[in-house]
This record gives sequence, structure tokens and C-alpha cells, in this order.
Amino acid sequence: MLVGVPQPIGQSETPMLSTPPAATATELTEKRMFMLFPTPMFMGKLPDMSVCDRVEKKVRELQKSGKGRAAPKGASPAWMSPDDLYDLPEMKELVDVIMGETGKVLDAFAVKRGSHYITSMWANITHPNHRQDIHVHPNCFLSGLVYIKTPINCGPTLFASPRKFTKNFEPRYTAKNELNSDFIIIPAEKGRMLIWPSHVPHAVEQGTADETEDRITVPFNIMIRGRIELFTASLNLS
Ligand SMILES: [Fe+2]
Repeated sequence: MLVGVPQPIGQSETPMLSTPPAATATELTEKRMFMLFPTPMFMGKLPDMSVCDRVEKKVRELQKSGKGRAAPKGASPAWMSPDDLYDLPEMKELVDVIMGETGKVLDAFAVKRGSHYITSMWANITHPNHRQDIHVHPNCFLSGLVYIKTPINCGPTLFASPRKFTKNFEPRYTAKNELNSDFIIIPAEKGRMLIWPSHVPHAVEQGTADETEDRITVPFNIMIRGRIELFTASLNLS
């Protein structure tokens, strides 16, 4: 399993095949390796970290007012807000960043569209060691989250290769790298935003925090508007 170390987009830790200065008669020349069907993860930090504090204040107000839903008594403490936070004026500064950055991601994918929008956006307030089973977010194109409050050693986010469960052979490896890993763990860090294709399975790993401070995240989903013309079907997304 890899632990993700945030690095500028475009850099890679993938080992590359190298051609020795004097290639032998049994070795190819002009060797190179490139990725055929990569799965991108986009990440960055909020330019103004105080946004996290304002978001936390608002979602705690919502929790106190009885909105949203809590885990059953006896279960690990967890609360989920209503999923239309994008409509609240207190969330506008975060919504603006989400809309801007997801627009750039859609541009990176070169997606033809009329526009894009947030289909759902909610807050999770949980015990720092609360875990969540692996899942995907259907019926949207992009998903993402912003870490709002992250106690030390709280649960990181785990992402799984969409191809993991199509493998029928698994050798042992001398080391884990981008070519052989099916899971990557990204540590939770206040103010960091992640954006990924919605079909990528993900989970929250068990945390190891000593304290009982809450872990707070705001996940969101993104869909496009417009008409998709394909020979199999024409879709009107509005
Ligand atoms: Fe999720």
C-alpha cells in the first residue's frame, strides 16, 4: 500500500526504464515507458485556511439545531449534515473554490459540457478514529472533499484501484510502487482539497488519534449539464 505524499501535479515517482549509455545487442534502444490509462487525483490547499474555521462554525450550528442525521446510539460517533450545503450563503466562499477547481479538472478531461454544478455537498463530523467502508459515488462525474478539521493521526482517506477486483493473478513484490499498488492512503490535512473521478472506490481508514477532537470533512459531487450525443443514446443532462 502506498502512502500518498502530495507533490505538484506532473511529477511522478514511477520508476522509468533507462537505456544504458552503451546498449548491448540484446537490449532495445529508444526505450521508454508511459501510462496508458491513468487515474488522476487532483489535490491542493485552500488559499485561505480561515475558510475551514468558518465552515466548521456553520456545520456545528446545523448539528446543534437538530438538522442532518447521527449514527445510532452505541455506534462510533458520527453526524452527517443535509446534502445541500452548497445553497448556504456561509458556504459560498468554499463553493466558489470547488466550482473553479472542478471546472479546471473537467477542462483537463476535455469534457464537452454546457456547465457543471454541485449535485450534493455535506459535512461529516465524526470521532477522529471513525472508519467508513469502501464505496463509490454513482451518477456523478467527479467527487471530492475538503478536510476542515483534522486531529493528529485521525483517519486518512484510502483510495482503491478501480481495476483491483478484475485481477486474477497477484504475485509478491519486492517493493510497492505506482505500477503494482491497488491502494493508496492520503493523510487528512486541514485545508486540503481532493478531487477524483467518481468511480474510484474510497474509504476512511481507522485513525489512531489519542484525542477525542472531531474529524470534520466536507465531501461533494459534481455533474455536468448539456447534451451528450452518442450513437447508442442521446442524453439531455439538465
Ligand atoms: Fe465517499
